[in-house]
Amino acid sequence: MVAELSAQITAQIKQAAVMLKSAKSICVLTGAGVSAESGIPTFRDKQTGLWEKFRAEDLASPDAFARDPKLVWSWYQWRRQQVIDKKPNPAHLALAQWQELAAKSGLTFTLITQNVDDLHEQAGSCVHHLHGRLWQNRCNNCQKIVKQSPNPSNNAAQALSDELVNCNDCGGLLRPDIVWFGEALPEKEWQIAENAAADCDVFINIGTSSLVYPAAGLAQIARQHGAQVIEINPHPTPNTIVNVTIAAPAGRALPKLLKQISAL
Ligand code: APR
Repeated sequence: MVAELSAQITAQIKQAAVMLKSAKSICVLTGAGVSAESGIPTFRDKQTGLWEKFRAEDLASPDAFARDPKLVWSWYQWRRQQVIDKKPNPAHLALAQWQELAAKSGLTFTLITQNVDDLHEQAGSCVHHLHGRLWQNRCNNCQKIVKQSPNPSNNAAQALSDELVNCNDCGGLLRPDIVWFGEALPEKEWQIAENAAADCDVFINIGTSSLVYPAAGLAQIARQHGAQVIEINPHPTPNTIVNVTIAAPAGRALPKLLKQISAL
């Protein structure tokens, strides 16, 4: 039996629901915390196993790939192995349901994520990825996009081997289609995110430490354009421009929030 949310959190949810009930446009930014209850460690959780001695920041960079492509490729194959059997949790499902309800009621609802897993898609959401996708590769030379089949029936062992893979077109090395430290975000996705943040009535930060820019700046853009900002995170973040904080796990808070909005 999962313990009931505290009276304080219930009050925070009520406050957020009142704000959201009158909103005509909502923009949501998710981070690693939204996948935590699916069993995927957050970005700043300690790395485990073989990768314990490495910091993600030291592997997720063009220099690291240039220096030791096999090490970086193996790390991503390991990360794929870690998420291949993970499923959407109630947070992903509530966001997908909310997006569906919004489409039916003429509410503008834009979902942006910093995450590279595909759990939002698995839950049925239409989502914009600012930092790339784990299940996609890109040729380091000609930039051709190559899907990485996550399907365990397609001989996962072979599909996730740590042997380097060359591009069929130009022979260049494939790399994960992920935005690495020091690289620019995808222009189209960033433009969508920036416009949605500027146009929304309510901006919701869910499961992000708000440490990494420019994604962390979206809440400020929303606020500067007159939006209210809500944060859903069991641990406070340096995001000081929040109007309402729901200090609870997203998988617990979001279903309650959706229910509370429809009850108003
Ligand atoms: N529900 C909501 N939030 C949670 C939960 C949960 N169940 N569990 C943890 N959190 C919060 C943590 O308190 C933390 O603030 O999720 C946040 C995760 O923060 P990070 O690990 O820093 O992940 P994120 O904010 O997504 O990182 C942003 O940084 O390293 C880059 O590209 C990488 O996309 C990543 C970006």
